[in-house]
Amino acid sequence: MAKAKKITYTLAALAVIAGIAASGRLWVVLDSARSNVADDNVQLADFHSNDDAAIKRGEYVMRLADCAACHNADFSGGYTIDTPFGALQTSNISPDRETGIGNMTERDFFNAVRQGRGEHGFLYPAMPYTAYTQMSDDDMHDLWAYFSAQKPVHNAIDENAGMNFPYNIRLAMAGWNLLFFDNSAFKQQTAQNDEWNRGKYIVDGPAHCSVCHTARNALGGEISSQYLQGGNLGSWYAPDITPNPHAGIGKWSDAQIADYLKTGSNGASVAAGPMAEAVEHSTQYFNDRDLHAIATYLRSLPASSTPQAAGFVMDKTRHDRAALRYEVDCSACHGLSGEGITGMVPAFAGNGAMQNDPTNMIHALLDGARAPHTADRPTSAGMPAFSWKLNDQEMADVLNYVRNSWGNQATEVKASQVADLRKATGAGAKLKVLVMK
Ligand code: HEC
Ligand code: HEC
Ligand code: HEC
Repeated sequence: MAKAKKITYTLAALAVIAGIAASGRLWVVLDSARSNVADDNVQLADFHSNDDAAIKRGEYVMRLADCAACHNADFSGGYTIDTPFGALQTSNISPDRETGIGNMTERDFFNAVRQGRGEHGFLYPAMPYTAYTQMSDDDMHDLWAYFSAQKPVHNAIDENAGMNFPYNIRLAMAGWNLLFFDNSAFKQQTAQNDEWNRGKYIVDGPAHCSVCHTARNALGGEISSQYLQGGNLGSWYAPDITPNPHAGIGKWSDAQIADYLKTGSNGASVAAGPMAEAVEHSTQYFNDRDLHAIATYLRSLPASSTPQAAGFVMDKTRHDRAALRYEVDCSACHGLSGEGITGMVPAFAGNGAMQNDPTNMIHALLDGARAPHTADRPTSAGMPAFSWKLNDQEMADVLNYVRNSWGNQATEVKASQVADLRKATGAGAKLKVLVMK
């Protein structure tokens, strides 16, 4: 589990030293006047909210924003995020005075969460302030009340000690912010109804869906023209979630989207890897109104223009061998005709995700996968690892078979892609069978 998340946020943490130019824009980026609505006198260690309703609402905001995923359940931090520029640790954000954020005032807290300005200077964008910047003042006040009700935990963290020079210089983030940080509050769109606006607010703000689901440029900035059209997370792929009927979720009903976020599965698809974690720690706690608001918003987006893939035809011998392999090793769970087991094992037949970037499928085959445990679906099914049983070509073949059977059409999975991921995920090689003489 730790490994998955480490890899997931690699790209979100990309940072770059950019020349500090255009001072007008820099002024906008650095302007923290929005934090003036918060109190600047009382420090967190000295404050204990007695507004139980606010604390309760703050807990819900914490779930929407999934703070615990990175800062740990007790908020003591120390979770390592690997970036191409070194290792970054998450901060201790419990109310401890010496090692946590006990010395922060509410205004400091607003500056950290919405502006990316922490106790030691600029924060790295692995902390998703680029999305949290849209969080409303009310949600932020409630979040502050919630953190005031948490126990202080003593745990000293030196966040960027593992970052390589010169990326350990926080000032570099001023340049990154200048290029990629849009320091503006969420804007209600009056042409749309409240439900739609609520959905957009959650997706773009606290739930930071686009941090994973939008592609990034070489400097780690999200490419806005490809908003929610799929993002590469290294050894995982966060698919297109626009209404594209092939590559995206255009064939899903509102109820299927809500079900997937609530339980990690919806008859068509079962969440694995980083999405299984997001479901477990965050989206399963969303109330039905918010789940439907998200569905309404996602379904209103323009569909990406990714065309249906052309498909890949294997040569006959390899096809027949792969079909046999499927029957022996896979069909017990995924079904003789790729029908899966509703709510437990994903179907391959009629599963739009089959034409996606194959990263997640290779990952599942190499390492196995576990569907999320949620309150509504407490027993989750497991996919066994096959790294010990199948070599790179055999894996590519069986995936090419399922990706091009039962009406599916998808591009070729190459043995070299399996080899790369086998290395990146540290999955072992196929076992050598010892032949007895
Ligand atoms: C995707 C991972 C991730 C999530 C989710 C996340 N954080 Fe962070 N956060 C980090 C990292 C990494 C740092 C350290 C960044 C640095 O030192 O530059 C950090 C730093 C902080 C700091 C600055 C602490 C200091 O001493 O300056 C605060 C405050 C904070 N986070 C609060 C939150 C809150 C509140 C939430 C939920 C609303 C949250 N974080 C969600 C990764 C995350
Ligand atoms: C930490 C990264 C991350 C975050 C944050 C995240 N996702 Fe995902 N998401 C993924 C990955 C990876 C997958 C692929 C999972 C799989 O194939 O089992 C995925 C899959 C999905 C799918 C299924 C798509 C399909 O075709 O099967 C939907 C829908 C989805 N996410 C919606 C969301 C929404 C809505 C949010 C915000 C509330 C969100 N995700 C936040 C990484 C993320
Ligand atoms: C014991 C039951 C079981 C067996 C045997 C099994 N699987 Fe799975 N498989 C699962 C489950 C359960 C999941 C969903 C796991 C998750 O999403 O966390 C899954 C997920 C997958 C996925 C990911 C699907 C997606 O939407 O991303 C692929 C690809 C896959 N299996 C292929 C195979 C192949 C190929 C074989 C045979 C070599 C196989 N499985 C054998 C249970 C099984």
